[in-house]
Amino acid sequence: MDQAPGSLSAHDRASRNLQLTGDGQLRHFITLDGLDRVMLTDILDTADSFIEVGERTIKKVPLLRGRTVVNLFFESSTRTRSTFELAAKRLSADVLNLDINTSATSKGESLSDTLLNLEAMASDMFVVRHSQSGAPHFIAESVTPGVAIINAGDGRHAHPTQAMLDMLTIRQNKHRFEGLKVAVVGDILHSRVARSQIRALQTLGAEEVRLIAPGTLLPADVDSLGCTVEYDMRKGMADLDVVIMLRLQKERMEGALLPSEREFYRLYGLDTEKLALAKPDCIVMHPGPINRGVEIESAVADGPQSVILSQVTNGIAIRMAVMSMAMSGQVAERAGRSRQQGGEQ
Ligand code: CP
Repeated sequence: MDQAPGSLSAHDRASRNLQLTGDGQLRHFITLDGLDRVMLTDILDTADSFIEVGERTIKKVPLLRGRTVVNLFFESSTRTRSTFELAAKRLSADVLNLDINTSATSKGESLSDTLLNLEAMASDMFVVRHSQSGAPHFIAESVTPGVAIINAGDGRHAHPTQAMLDMLTIRQNKHRFEGLKVAVVGDILHSRVARSQIRALQTLGAEEVRLIAPGTLLPADVDSLGCTVEYDMRKGMADLDVVIMLRLQKERMEGALLPSEREFYRLYGLDTEKLALAKPDCIVMHPGPINRGVEIESAVADGPQSVILSQVTNGIAIRMAVMSMAMSGQVAERAGRSRQQGGEQ
């Protein structure tokens, strides 16, 4: 799916225009919609170059020296928040982690006012996680020029850095995307991760993205996603190169969508018996947090085919890549504006 900008849907064109500078550099990272294979490959290649930094004794490069990155997490997080913080520090940025529970948000301050105040402190980048789909997009549309917005997960909409660290992990293990059969299993209905993974896999050229779930955990628009759908997990495991398990997102479920967790595990939990139905070198992935005995057996999560902890490690390199690329795009855009203003005088 390597479309020329002119052939994109109106939605993808708008996403592209918001996220890219006039000459095609990243300036915000909100969604994978509208980003082509060249851009996603550039992010993966840049992340590859940062992996070595994490293996040094002194894990620092000066790319964001003097820049201020604000982590704004309106929802709980372990992996994403920690790896964004580590990534920003490895790029030598100053990092502010705003504690939403003790911030003025708890006194009723609006998101817009919180941001205006943080912008007044000369922040250069906001990393935003929010329960409302679209919150990072809204911020990117209204933020002062020169400030980059990075989406760390919004509602059910998107989690683009998670999808990209997953792609980096797949590329490390499989060395290609063409010809791969990849399944995403479980609570696809509520998963921002699944939406971004599907987009990334299709853009990068995976042969098949297979969704395995009960009908109650699939979105109403599943037919428009360009994936194959399988309701029987034992059948769905056939020929898989990669299986990505998802957590049951109980915090987003309205009403009873499952008979019981025990029944879900029996039918859709990844255990050693079901994993044996995939290709022998099939890798097992999970964005975390994992719920052992609900969607995955411990023997599988900790087993030789699992790359779950590599995903976490790769999160730092991907976030370093996205942050450095977005800041570089913002700087180039600002220089272009200054030149234009100089020429107009
Ligand atoms: N995968 C992921 O987003 O995990 P956290 O919620 O811990 O950040």
